[in-house]
Amino acid sequence: MSSLESEAMEAEFDTVAGWTEEAVRTLGPEYAVPAGCRGSGSEGALRWLADRLDLRPGARLLDDGAGVGGPAGWLAAERGVRPVCAEPMAAAVRASRRLFGLPSVVAMAQQLPFADGSFDAAWCLGVLCTTSDKAGSLAELRRVLVPGARLGLLVFVAAGPLPPPLPEGNEFPGETELLDLLGGAGFDLQDSGTADLADSPDEWLERADAVDAEVARRHGEAPEHEQARENAKRVGRLISGKHLRPWLGIAIAR
Ligand SMILES: C[S@@+](CC[C@H](N)C(=O)[O-])C[C@H]1O[C@@H](n2cnc3c(N)ncnc32)[C@H](O)[C@@H]1O
Repeated sequence: MSSLESEAMEAEFDTVAGWTEEAVRTLGPEYAVPAGCRGSGSEGALRWLADRLDLRPGARLLDDGAGVGGPAGWLAAERGVRPVCAEPMAAAVRASRRLFGLPSVVAMAQQLPFADGSFDAAWCLGVLCTTSDKAGSLAELRRVLVPGARLGLLVFVAAGPLPPPLPEGNEFPGETELLDLLGGAGFDLQDSGTADLADSPDEWLERADAVDAEVARRHGEAPEHEQARENAKRVGRLISGKHLRPWLGIAIAR
C-alpha cells in the first residue's frame, strides 16, 4: 500500500474514507456525492472547473488523488463522462468503485500507472497541497495527458507564513510557487479564480453533515476520528482566517 506524509492524513484519507462509505450505505446513495467530496470544497467549484475542461463525449478523463470519488461521481452524473480515479489510499479506492462504479486504481500522483498521452483531460482537487513532491506529481500529470489537454486544479494556496497550529502533513504552496511549478512541468495557465466554499445547495450541506454525524455516531471514540477532525479543523481555521485561499485553475498541456 502507498503511504502518505503523516499519520493524521492517513487517518483522514484512508480510515475515514472507509467509514464514509459505510455511512453512505446506511443513509442512501443520494448521500454519496456530498459525502465523497472531501476537500474539493463545493458544488460551485466543481461546476467552475467542469465548465472549463472542454469535455467532449467520450473524453478520457483522469481524477488524480480522487479520494472516495465524490467529484468524479458528480462529473459522471452531471457531464456524462466516465472518469478514471487514481488515489493512494486503498479504502478510498474501494469506496469510489463501490459508491460510484468508477474505474479506480491505487496510485500515487508521482507514479501514475498509465501510458503517456492516455487522457484528454484531468483534474486534481485538494491534492497538491497534501504532497511535498508537487513537481513530480505535475510532471506525471503532464506525461499522461495529450498535448492541448486541460488540467483543472483546486489548490489551497498560502497567502504568507501560516500561523500555528498547522494541519499535519500538508504543504501549502504560495501562488507564485504554484505558477512556477505549473510552467516548469509543461503547462500554461489559462484561467484562475477563487472557490466560494459556501456555495453548495443546502441539501448538499445537510447530506454532508448527516454523513459526518453518522460517522461520529459509529466511530466518534476512535483516535483516528479525533485526529482527522482536528486536522480538518485546523485547515478550516486557516481558510476562514484568509491565510489559505482555495485557488482554482485551468492549465493547458503544452
Ligand atoms: C483533500 S483530499 C481530496 C480528495 C478528492 N480529490 C476530493 O476533492 O474530494 C486529498 C486526497 O489526496 C490524496 N493524496 C495525498 N497525497 C497524494 C499523492 N502523493 N498522490 C495522489 N494522491 C494523494 C489523499 O489520499 C486524499 O484522498
